[in-house]
Amino acid sequence: MQSIYEDHLPEMEATMQRFMERIDACRHQMKERLGMDPVEHCLCRIKSEESMREKCRRKGLPETCDSALKEIHDAIGIRVVCAFLDDVYTIRDNLAQWQDAKIVTEKDYIKNVKPNGYRSYHMILQADNGYYVEIQLRTISMDTWAALEHHLKYKKQYKGNQELIVSELKRCADELASTDLSMQTLRDLIFEENEAGS
Ligand code: GTP
Ligand code: MG
Repeated sequence: MQSIYEDHLPEMEATMQRFMERIDACRHQMKERLGMDPVEHCLCRIKSEESMREKCRRKGLPETCDSALKEIHDAIGIRVVCAFLDDVYTIRDNLAQWQDAKIVTEKDYIKNVKPNGYRSYHMILQADNGYYVEIQLRTISMDTWAALEHHLKYKKQYKGNQELIVSELKRCADELASTDLSMQTLRDLIFEENEAGS
């Protein structure tokens, strides 16, 4: 069977690499300024053939290249995991200034937390060659929670007390968020000390 991306894969890969390089450049700039690398890790992927077809069906779209590249906007995905909360927004501001990509949508699930406790900053950018790129920006804590929640969501055989599981997950998310705030405050304190002392 032909790929749902037809002959677009090489250009999609190149677009993804270009974005990764730009994020890397921003990361280096910030490292010079902060004295530390703001990014803990950064991942990218092209959505697999199977999950893209599954997503088309779920959204009631035909399984075509047009659906995959124009209707669905996360064929190319990048996740930037930051050490500190402020860095999420600094990187967001940097992305917003790129001349060769424009912001299509932004969802701030950090300020507007999802009911289950999910937090992240989501952006859909459109590169000047037309491809859409989904960028998820989050802290290490948010990433940890999302990974665990994702893991648990797929353990469908688990027949525990659903209500308790949901509320405990939410509680963990909120505790992690409170730790993120404390860690940010700590960094600000340490920086102020250093600035004053230098
Ligand atoms: P999709 O149609 O599935 O892409 O969702 P959407 O259009 O509502 O977009 P949204 O920005 O809410 O979510 C996009 C991506 O964020 C998902 O594919 C997940 O990777 C991640 N995500 C969103 N919500 C959750 C959540 O509750 N838990 C976890 N673990 N990940 C989430
Ligand atoms: Mg998605």
